[in-house]
Amino acid sequence: MADPMTINQHVRLGSNAGQPMTRRDGMLKVTGQAPYAADRRPAGLLHAVAASAGIARGRVVHLDTAAAMAHPGVIRVYTPANCPPLAVHPDTKIHGFAWRTEALQDDTVRYAGQPIALVVAETLEAATEGARLLAPQYEVLPPRIGLDGDTPYDPETVSIGRPPSLSVGDLDAARKGATRHQTTVVETAAQYHNALEPHAITAEWFRDGGARDRVEIDTPNQAIGLAKQSFAAYLGIEPDRIVIRSPFLGGGFGSKAILFGAQLLVVLAARDLDRPVKLALRRDQMYGPVGHRPATRQTLQLDLDDQGRIMALDHHTLAVASTFDDFIESASNASHSVYATTALHTTHSAVRSDTGTPGPMRAPGEAPGSAALEVAIDQAAHAMGMDPLAFRLLNYAETDPSTGMAFSSKALRECYAQAAERFGWADRPLQPRAMRQGRLLKGWGMGTAQFPCPMFQAAAHATLRADGSAVVETSAADMGQGAWTALAQIAADGLGIDVDRLEFRSGHSDLPDAGIAGGSGHTATAGTALFNAGADTVRQLAQIATADPASPLFGAGNAGVTARGGRLYRNDDDSRHEAYEDILARAGLDLLRGEGKGGREGEPQRAMFSHGGVFAEVLVDPDLGQIRVSRLVGAFAAGRIVNPHLARSQLLGGMIWGIGFALQEEAIHDPRTGRFTNNDLAGYHIPVNADVPSIEALMVHEDDPHVNALGIKGVGELGVTGTVGAIANAVWHATGVRPVRFPIHPETLI
Ligand code: MOS
Repeated sequence: MADPMTINQHVRLGSNAGQPMTRRDGMLKVTGQAPYAADRRPAGLLHAVAASAGIARGRVVHLDTAAAMAHPGVIRVYTPANCPPLAVHPDTKIHGFAWRTEALQDDTVRYAGQPIALVVAETLEAATEGARLLAPQYEVLPPRIGLDGDTPYDPETVSIGRPPSLSVGDLDAARKGATRHQTTVVETAAQYHNALEPHAITAEWFRDGGARDRVEIDTPNQAIGLAKQSFAAYLGIEPDRIVIRSPFLGGGFGSKAILFGAQLLVVLAARDLDRPVKLALRRDQMYGPVGHRPATRQTLQLDLDDQGRIMALDHHTLAVASTFDDFIESASNASHSVYATTALHTTHSAVRSDTGTPGPMRAPGEAPGSAALEVAIDQAAHAMGMDPLAFRLLNYAETDPSTGMAFSSKALRECYAQAAERFGWADRPLQPRAMRQGRLLKGWGMGTAQFPCPMFQAAAHATLRADGSAVVETSAADMGQGAWTALAQIAADGLGIDVDRLEFRSGHSDLPDAGIAGGSGHTATAGTALFNAGADTVRQLAQIATADPASPLFGAGNAGVTARGGRLYRNDDDSRHEAYEDILARAGLDLLRGEGKGGREGEPQRAMFSHGGVFAEVLVDPDLGQIRVSRLVGAFAAGRIVNPHLARSQLLGGMIWGIGFALQEEAIHDPRTGRFTNNDLAGYHIPVNADVPSIEALMVHEDDPHVNALGIKGVGELGVTGTVGAIANAVWHATGVRPVRFPIHPETLI
């Protein structure tokens, strides 16, 4: 593989990348041709339906399996009594991004909605009826639900979800030097992902000569490589005996990054019954087994000097955790790097609750953390008698307060300025309840958007064909964010060809691993691998051409040629060039293949974040407390924008999620039973078109030479940060009532 310096001598990003292309997969999707896991219908297919626990805590003492088995079409009922065992216990963490799962290992009920049996039948209807006939009987224990429980989190357990504490500077000394002290307590509700496509899996086993089994699995997954590792370990077979197909995901938001128990059960059932088996969760079954954003109670202490400068910032998060796993929402981390402070302290704790294990959900940590931080900042600005934007500029972090490192790039000032100008922020009255629209109270608020730029590890292949077209391969996941398009644009630039000549293969576990589609790092990571694979191919092509006396490029030297539009050009004489297909033909090559990797080596030397400023206008009914967001303007800087059209969609999607977070999304447990009262889209509210106002996402130019070789940050999770606080602060400005719980309930405003 060529080193990056050589690569950059031949190709560069910016011919296809940067164009506002529409989705390459759009036609497939709108015509129903894009295959999803539940679309798979292999011959002999059986249907599985999980029976879900109707209590939150206790034990299953009886299941009427005889009644279920007697129903026509029911083939098998799996319970803890007869479930085929996994090669390793389902509590085993196969890798650092794995959950403990419920795969019928015992009769304990740990949360409402937990799978307690799996019914397999000839039809979906029979399986559904079979599950109903099980009529479970329970030994019920009182559920422990929510933030006020008394079962603390055991600090000895360790997982990816346990954020370390951070302490920078002398908190006590900084507090003593401050003249204003403010404590803000903000609560956020439990939220569930509600991807358009509920989780589904189809598994089919094949016997290769009877000796070794092979399984093909269709299931939407954000990290195919990790999923393959997990399946291999649980099933006790070699990873090369497993194929996972996940070409399209109908949304993921973090919930499809991690395997859940029923997926394993379906694969076991298919092997046991020697027939393909399919399971598609119902909407209500997504409330519990596939992760959620847990409720938080966050306490922020801000200590200011008499100028309004932040002396000390202390952010503590209490989050709900499950009783059987270790994920803690890392909300306090959102305060690490946004505002300057002399002392910074962040901690987390949790209370165990009889709920499914929480997990990453779009902007995990940052979304609830940013909401609380931005409310506290707004409160402090008002206490100082300062404009909220002026207050943020006074406390602008020139370096990262949590590490002292310089930012790789930070165009946040420009974001604030452009969004404020567009919004008309300069006309904002300082005092609340100062604006009306008709009889409605009108308010303006703002928030800072910030999200880190992680990179994972990815690999890719590029193959140039005899006709000058190419195919690239990487197991990338398109959750709807446009990976098929944005990654293809980057890959085409790496190959120096037009994207129309590029075939993009992804979503299959036999392809090189593209890492996790998450953390807003997929485009940067998989994109780097694809770009490098293309560039590696072009490097080899240049070597062939410049060494061939019959080529017009002969003698230019490998570094003396540049690729564009499917041709190599001499750097010293642009009129001398040759098409890829001619170089390949003369060399007698049908194919030329390159490889590339993406990822970040070593410890980062800079703080790397995407940024934005979000401004919101709300209208509040003074009698009913009803809140409408009437305008949202955000300006965002996220390094190189690969596709402005798709990036804008991501940012708008994040901002709309912010509306839902601020005003609607809330999973409600009945405290008596621990069951949900609203585990469907009728009761769990997300924004619909009527809730979405005039909304704009401006993109601020930003060059980042440090974040990675391509200068790409990320846009997937940025938009939800900042927006929630902006809306809450606008509600305060309209009403004079400070929202301290999300979603904001109308009755708290009147
Ligand atoms: Mo995400 S929560 O990084 O899919």
